[in-house]
Amino acid sequence: MRQFALIGGTGVENFTLMDQCLLTVETPYGTVHPMVGKIAGREIVFLSRHGHGHAAPPHLVNYRANIWALHSLGVRKILATAAVGSLSRNYRLGELVLLSQFLDFTKSRPQTFFEGEDQGVLHVDMTEPYCPYLKKAVLDVSEKIGIVVKDGACYVCTEGPRFETPAEIRMFQQLGADVVGMTSVPEVVLARELGMCYASVGMVTNEAAGIADHRLSHAEVTESLKNLGRKAAELLQGTFEV
Ligand code: HPA
Repeated sequence: MRQFALIGGTGVENFTLMDQCLLTVETPYGTVHPMVGKIAGREIVFLSRHGHGHAAPPHLVNYRANIWALHSLGVRKILATAAVGSLSRNYRLGELVLLSQFLDFTKSRPQTFFEGEDQGVLHVDMTEPYCPYLKKAVLDVSEKIGIVVKDGACYVCTEGPRFETPAEIRMFQQLGADVVGMTSVPEVVLARELGMCYASVGMVTNEAAGIADHRLSHAEVTESLKNLGRKAAELLQGTFEV
């Protein structure tokens, strides 16, 4: 049983597993190519969220195909990474954060596997959107190996692919958001719909628009991710080894 998966976001497109091989998984939503291999003797599935070569922008990621494919492989626990901008003094550039709550400002993404008729209707509980069991596992490993990860971040998911305006960022701050990204919704929701445990580690790549004293660019995000991606991968690898 392949219980565990890692969904690698921007900056974590590759993750080395022992004896790895690339799979082709057909789903009702499209074809997905996860990698399967081992860490410390345990089977792990790795999926690059945006596909190979960062092909899909955040609003066009096939979230349903990705989550369906992992579930059909037997995965029941997912750790994910997400590049985020910071809106809060509590979460600084270069830090890792565990997402705890989300605000959903996406606009055009299929959000559910349950579209009525013979698929039924599901109103899934989101009181604790990110799995407390997996969050604790990450926090324990973080203490053990000395890679700091801060808990408690409220993530606002924007539609992208553009960055936000400073006015939007001020609004999100007033609503209680700490960090901003473009991918955690609907991924976290779809995982919950299929009864999977899902947690996500945010990597703070930049200060959000209007907080930074310069314009944002994807280059700034990818530059920050050179170190942060490595740090997050080490933390998650440690979590899989437990
Ligand atoms: N906004 C949205 N998504 C992001 C950001 C940001 O500032 N940084 C990394 N992903």
